[in-house]
Formats: sequence, structure tokens, C-alpha cells
Amino acid sequence: MSENITPYQSQNATKKEQVATMFNNISKTYDFLNHFLSLGIDIIWRKRAIKELKSIKPRIILDVATGTGDFAFEAINILKPEKIIGVDISEGMLEVARKKINDRKLQHIFSVQMGDSEGLQFTDDHFDAITVAFGVRNYQNLEKGLADMYRVLKPGGKIVILEFSKPRAFPIKQAYNFYSNQVLPFFGKVFSKDNCAYTYLPESVAAFPDGEDFIKLMDKVGFKKSNDIRLTFGISAIYTGVK
Ligand SMILES: C[S@@+](CC[C@H](N)C(=O)[O-])C[C@H]1O[C@@H](n2cnc3c(N)ncnc32)[C@H](O)[C@@H]1O
Repeated sequence: MSENITPYQSQNATKKEQVATMFNNISKTYDFLNHFLSLGIDIIWRKRAIKELKSIKPRIILDVATGTGDFAFEAINILKPEKIIGVDISEGMLEVARKKINDRKLQHIFSVQMGDSEGLQFTDDHFDAITVAFGVRNYQNLEKGLADMYRVLKPGGKIVILEFSKPRAFPIKQAYNFYSNQVLPFFGKVFSKDNCAYTYLPESVAAFPDGEDFIKLMDKVGFKKSNDIRLTFGISAIYTGVK
């Protein structure tokens, strides 16, 4: 299970504590490495995912595991909402997000705060839409995290989750495995100076319940019309659900 895959296997801290530490460590190089290691494809995935919300025209959005804010910035560009709140357990990532919000003069639309997907500090039925990009794989308790996002979503509201998936077809699967187990940890270590972060990434993707398994979890916590869209040979996937 993904719960047992932690960034620093030798530490006694919980997965949540280790994940927060890891993102604090890599926050300054995160944006650069994201685009560099994905060859910029992550930008296309984010746009594609946010477009899933166009038809419901959400006014108030919660971006969970907002990190440095890139998914929320894309939502602002494409959806023009009144308000987006981003929450994250890593203060280091939020610090980078705050600087970007100020630089882009978006303080009136986008604000960020510390917050845990497994215990969101919002009332029930609050948001028109919820977005999460590359966050759910890092949750300590995935089911609890999904259930609390369901709780704060308005009836009729929609969730869009973007997450790495596992390509299954030859030769993409083999090429992907080589890239994520050899190339990615090498460059990740060189640029981020964190020895574990980019080894944890492929390990956590491998342990993550993707595709049908993830949809079953979404259904279990109450989402309706749960669906997945595979991107770039199944390297990533968009999951959507409605309350
Ligand atoms: C890979 S980053 C993604 C950041 C951003 N969404 C993006 O698309 O670039 C994953 C983020 O999830 C956050 N995270 C992990 N577990 C979380 C939880 N339980 N609640 C809120 N944020 C969490 C981490 O701190 C980290 O900033």
C-alpha cells in the first residue's frame, strides 16, 4: 500500500511528517525540476485536467496539496473563478506559492494556508470544485483524504484529481521504468540536493492504486460518475467525480 512507502524509510516519523519535510527540502527547486524532468508535459496535463471543470463554471475552488500553486494558477487562467484557496502541509512549498501570488498580483483571488486533506478546516458542502494535482499519492491515509474532500464539496460540485499512473503497454512501460528508476533519481538528487525525494517518487507511483482501483475508492467515499482519463500512454491520469 502507498501508506507504507515513505520518503525517508529509516526515519520513525509518520508518512505525513516525512512528506512535509521532503517538500520543505525541495521547495526551492520543485518548479524547475517539475518542468525539466517532465520535459514540460506537466503543463499540458494541468491545462487538460482543469478543462474538466469548464462546464460547471465553479466560483469557489479548493486546491488541495497546492504546493507552489501551479494547478491553481492554471485554474485561475482557464476558469476565472471568484476565489481559490490552496492548502498544503508543507510551509516551504506555501512560501514559494505566496511569492508567486504576490508577483502575479493575484492576492484578491488566490490565498494559501496550511491544511491537511485528512482534516480540512472548512464546513461541509462549501466548495463548487476541488482540484488536486500530484497530491493524493502522498496522502498518509488516502481514503480519509478523499472522504474529507467529498465532505467539503457542495452537492453537485466536481472534483478533478491529476496523478501519476503506470503505463502498461510495451515498450512504453519499459522506457518509463528506466526513466523513472534511473534518470529521474539521478537528476533529482543533483538539482534538489535531497537524496531520497526522487527515489520516493517512482516508488510511490508504483505502490499507488491507479485506474480502476482508484475509482473504486472514489466510489466508496461517495463520489458519483467517477471516471478516469489516461494521459500520455498512461503516465498520468485525470480522475473526476461528482457529489
Ligand atoms: C508533488 S506536490 C504537488 C504540488 C502542486 N499541486 C503541483 O501540482 O505542483 C505534492 C504536495 O502535496 C502536499 N501534501 C501531501 N500530503 C498532503 C495532505 N495530506 N494534505 C495536504 N497537502 C499534502 C505536499 O506537501 C506537496 O506540496
